[in-house]
Amino acid sequence: MSMSKSYVFLLILLLAATGGFNAALADHDEHGEGRHHRERHRGDHSGEGGKSCLTPVSNPVYAESCGECHFAYQPELLPSGSWEKILAGLEDHFGETVELDSAAKKDISGYLAANGAERSSAKRAVKIMKSLGGNTPLRITEIPCIKDAHHDISPDVLKRESIGSLSNCSACHTTAQSGIYNDDNVTIPK
Ligand code: HEC
Ligand code: HEC
Repeated sequence: MSMSKSYVFLLILLLAATGGFNAALADHDEHGEGRHHRERHRGDHSGEGGKSCLTPVSNPVYAESCGECHFAYQPELLPSGSWEKILAGLEDHFGETVELDSAAKKDISGYLAANGAERSSAKRAVKIMKSLGGNTPLRITEIPCIKDAHHDISPDVLKRESIGSLSNCSACHTTAQSGIYNDDNVTIPK
């Protein structure tokens, strides 16, 4: 009896493990396409404390409108207080004007509010929240722990045509669109 019970338990563990593995592979497959990750990733948010990657962008309106000029940052990279400020200042967005119709703005603000760093159990998001200590900057690149991680990269490197600025996450983090920012997947382009 207990023998078969533990057998079932093992089987469930195995299924869970391969399921996770397949999901990880799927993320990599989609890397080139990037902009249209879908609902599949929603479930990743729940429970089990500290997934190592961030949930890829799953809202097509956000991916399109906020991925037009730069990498579409995962909402978990900033608290929703920051996203709110960013959306409130789109007429002067780092020197650019971002125009959104009211339906798109509503969709994007709902998506960002529901998925900000403070709602995430991902290790990186938890670290970001700790590092911010209640601040809500307009830039991911102003978060102390993000600044620290890039401390060694010289301004000359960032100015390369292939990079432009530290805001261009996906220039160096080859798996940025999959929400993976590990040291293993970083290549600084020439
Ligand atoms: C018209 C072009 C344009 C569009 C569209 C746009 N942005 Fe930006 N965004 C910029 C520029 C320019 C910067 C500054 C980049 C730099 O310093 O290299 C920036 C920077 C940012 C940053 C800070 C990145 C950092 O340094 O950490 C965030 C966050 C951001 N944008 C969010 C958004 C969101 C959310 C939207 C959609 C509502 C959006 N952007 C749409 C041009 C744009
Ligand atoms: C010029 C290339 C470059 C750009 C652009 C860049 N990074 Fe990085 N990033 C690196 C390198 C290199 C490291 C590894 C530093 C080290 O080895 O400790 C790193 C480290 C990190 C880490 C810590 C990784 C870990 O395992 O602890 C995070 C998180 C991160 N980057 C996020 C971002 C985000 C988000 C952006 C965009 C807003 C960004 N990076 C832009 C090169 C870059």
